[in-house]
Amino acid sequence: MPFMVNEIDVLVFEEAYLRQLAEDYVSEIGIRSHFLNLDQIRSKRKRLDAYKELTEKDFIFLLNQDGLHIQMLLKTALCIKVDFCSPQIQYRLAKGGGKSQMIAKALGLKSVFRPRVIDATAGLGKDAFVLASLGCFVQMYERNPLIQLLLKDGMRRARQSHDSKPNSELKEALERMKLKPSDVVEVFNQGITQFDVLYLDPMFPHPDSRSLVKKDMQLLQSLIGADSDASDVFKKAQSSGIARIVVKRPKSAPYLMDKKPDHSFVGKRNRFDIYHSTA
Ligand SMILES: C[S@@+](CC[C@H](N)C(=O)[O-])C[C@H]1O[C@@H](n2cnc3c(N)ncnc32)[C@H](O)[C@@H]1O
Repeated sequence: MPFMVNEIDVLVFEEAYLRQLAEDYVSEIGIRSHFLNLDQIRSKRKRLDAYKELTEKDFIFLLNQDGLHIQMLLKTALCIKVDFCSPQIQYRLAKGGGKSQMIAKALGLKSVFRPRVIDATAGLGKDAFVLASLGCFVQMYERNPLIQLLLKDGMRRARQSHDSKPNSELKEALERMKLKPSDVVEVFNQGITQFDVLYLDPMFPHPDSRSLVKKDMQLLQSLIGADSDASDVFKKAQSSGIARIVVKRPKSAPYLMDKKPDHSFVGKRNRFDIYHSTA
């Protein structure tokens, strides 16, 4: 696939009870699984060495009691997973400003209006989860099979978390999120009339400003590279008749396709460019 720069060929699981889940996951993407008992290996460096012996690639999937991760095996050894219950997300839900936060304003949330959203670039699902927690129905598109698996596992753990400690807000947010494991261009063939907004947050290359990019995005950039075809989605969305398109960009990045938006919201790191329908 042209958009996958690096790939992963092994899923390492660290607890015997995770074997079935590991098998289910590897069968979805056609890689191998490997049980590695790391009880005796406490140091992070030695663990990385143990993973490196299993692959020539720069990344592995790591499945343990905390969920499914993508672990980078390069010097920075970043590790990511989808976690809707993380303290950062919970903080954002509690203190992020609700429908007054920038993403909510950009998508047009009002006290009685909750748009139905196509999240064209679901990634780690953070934006989708915030929007769903604010009451939007969000149809998430993710085309990269590796990221799809992370999202699926994040949703599994979030549901489990509700089962063991009931949380109606979490449950309702999850019910409003639907993952479509495909390229978003499919939505244009199926019809888009039931949606109010298309939200586009493509990977953007940050060659000189690594420190400005969050760790999880650094890892995604190394794994996936830039989404250089975002303008194709943008063009299709513009002629689809959808009422509103919102494009998230780094604060000082040029407009997508150099097209001046009708309006922008500018934050510390990012900018949300809003385009109203011309079709
Ligand atoms: C920057 S990340 C999105 C981050 C996301 N907004 C979040 O809150 O976690 C971009 C993601 O969009 C996906 N993507 C890019 N173009 C896509 C397309 N045409 N269809 C589906 N997914 C796409 C990439 O695979 C990548 O995972």
